[in-house]
Amino acid sequence: MIGLEGASIGVEQRSSESARFREDVVRGLSAPRKTLPPKWLYDRRGSALFELICEQAEYYPTRTELGILEGHAEEIAEAIGPGALVFEPGAGSGRKTALLLSALERPAGYVPVDISREALLEGAESLRRQFPRLGVRPIVADFTGPVALPLGDLPARRRVAFFPGSTIGNFDPPEAVSLLRRMARDAGPGGALVIGVDLAKDERTLVRAYDDARGVTAAFDLNLLARMNRELGGDFRLSAFRHRAVFDPRLSRVEMHLESLEPQLVNVAGESFAFRAGETIHTESAYKWETRAFDALALIAGWRPERTWTDERAWFAVKLYTAAR
Ligand code: AVJ
Repeated sequence: MIGLEGASIGVEQRSSESARFREDVVRGLSAPRKTLPPKWLYDRRGSALFELICEQAEYYPTRTELGILEGHAEEIAEAIGPGALVFEPGAGSGRKTALLLSALERPAGYVPVDISREALLEGAESLRRQFPRLGVRPIVADFTGPVALPLGDLPARRRVAFFPGSTIGNFDPPEAVSLLRRMARDAGPGGALVIGVDLAKDERTLVRAYDDARGVTAAFDLNLLARMNRELGGDFRLSAFRHRAVFDPRLSRVEMHLESLEPQLVNVAGESFAFRAGETIHTESAYKWETRAFDALALIAGWRPERTWTDERAWFAVKLYTAAR
């Protein structure tokens, strides 16, 4: 059994984590079009709100992907084969992972990777309980960063990157390519990728998924302002901003924005930032792909398309790729 400690990080790296948050905030709010990287949405409260988003009627991706994984787990497992080591960048609660792991024949181990230590260890613990004989080795790391994962010392027939949830949709195509390329490198020769991709569909459905009637997504987005107040000494008034979701058909993406309701000056991270009325902070993009276009993107990153599983409305795809060489 692989131990828990392996690649955990200490206090020093955690403080540099908050230094990176500060840097991203100063850079993002100084830009002519204000923007913040979506990864900062996921502090403890943000992660809890995201889990709640997944339960909203309008937010179809989680439910649809779970249905695909449930319906085709055997086929997916068969295509992967026995003795696979599964690593998961940005591991969440582990619900989808459990579906995959229980279908796999003699999995060699499971390596969840996440920026949020608490969420990561909770998820890893839950999987250990469900699969007591499986080696689970969590790694606290920002998977969007440049570090290669220390997977070489874990013996396996093949390494499989598991990247569900359409998290790939949060990245602009060039970033998505470099992320997929790094997963190809981490998976190594003979490696595989099982990835969830949200597909293009009518605008109304898309916008409602990112602006639910109960306001859970709005609370999730606005929590980023609260987080800056908490962690960077900010004075954002949450009532002076509102959440907006807009679809850009040209880029085929939903954008989340925090819109300033009035002209105002905000202090955060030791600096002041002016907002015009109606000016926004772009907090997240969620690209919606055509399956062929996504195959082309993956191919550029070194992944050869192997199989695609989808739901009956073709709203979401779970795709299997193998390392091109
Ligand atoms: C984290 C990529 C699954 O883009 O759909 C949900 C995040 N943001 N509602 C997505 C999210 C607002 C989500 N993923």
